[in-house]
Amino acid sequence: MDFKLVVLPGDGVGPEVVAEAIKTLEAVSKKFGHNFRLDRRLVGGASIDAEGVAVSEETVTRCQKADAVLLGAVGGPKWDDPLAKVRPEDGLLELRKRLGLFANLRPVKVFPMLVDASNLKPQIIEGVDFIFVRELIGGLYFGRPKRRWQTSRGRRAVDSMAYSEQEIERIVRVGFELAQRRQRKLISVDKANVLESSRLWRQVAIEVARDYPDVSLEHMLVDACSMRLIQNPRYLDVLVTENTFGDILTDEASMLAGSMGMLPSASLAGVPQSGVRTFGLYEPIHGSAPRHAGKNEVNPIATVLSAAMMLRYSLAREKEAEAVEKAVENVLDDGYRTYDIMSEGKTKVGTAEMGDLIARKVSGQ
Ligand code: IPM
Ligand code: MG
Repeated sequence: MDFKLVVLPGDGVGPEVVAEAIKTLEAVSKKFGHNFRLDRRLVGGASIDAEGVAVSEETVTRCQKADAVLLGAVGGPKWDDPLAKVRPEDGLLELRKRLGLFANLRPVKVFPMLVDASNLKPQIIEGVDFIFVRELIGGLYFGRPKRRWQTSRGRRAVDSMAYSEQEIERIVRVGFELAQRRQRKLISVDKANVLESSRLWRQVAIEVARDYPDVSLEHMLVDACSMRLIQNPRYLDVLVTENTFGDILTDEASMLAGSMGMLPSASLAGVPQSGVRTFGLYEPIHGSAPRHAGKNEVNPIATVLSAAMMLRYSLAREKEAEAVEKAVENVLDDGYRTYDIMSEGKTKVGTAEMGDLIARKVSGQ
């Protein structure tokens, strides 16, 4: 089959990890007889430097016409001035908003051979396998008013955590749909003891639950959830939450998997259904890690696994997605590790070597 992909490497380590995901896709295309047409564009700081904007109209349009988008990371100290008019992150946020990517799926799976790579005790994290559904285009990130101003008594700033019932309903539904295909247990994370937007969230979640009588719904306060994540993560299966809570909790959750370099993500414009193509943007959850850029040392697995999610959700190629996931597992089984997941007795490799090993496994399967 023929697929049109927009590739946005971005800043910092973005281009390095995206290159390895593309290597993997090339192996997939040979093995399964697909043709991936790649359209490389700029986003973030790279785009600010070259085009003066964090993402150009042309790039947004091309994304809209593609089957899926693969992104590396954005940001870096060069563009970090708090008074800057345009920031690399604006490019990512604009893409999410303009492409309608309201559902951010962040699976957290602890690979058995990496239980020693985490700071947490193996008996806590063994067998951990859950998924966060993060609302991605509402809440504090986009709510109005959002501004900073001068008053006679000093500077003030405001961000708004705003949600409509429609926005809540569509994301909670994604949670229920995924829960139906897993353990039929959905945890909705909020701060309903304090926030009005959370009280609406909880109410809507309860209403939507009537359509899913086979799924049990539990409410968890976000502070308690941050504790549960490291206290008893095996308890979790599908969690749904608003934008900012999801941002924070998923960084925390990545530590269960040993490293931020292990966690992929999919940002979708609809409810994922098996065998159906849902438009989406795929990126690792980690940032641009400027200190590591250009050193061929970071872990490309999060991006490679993001490409696997792209095969599954936007291209409806389940077999191919599983082949990539299996290849990653096999390479880890063989004892290869990037620095972030390195442990005694294993073989340390760089970014490109890790990508080569995974691509070779895909070809050889
Ligand atoms: C993430 C990142 C982004 C976010 C940043 C880069 C804007 O932290 O995808 O989790 O906050 O959503
Ligand atoms: Mg984040």
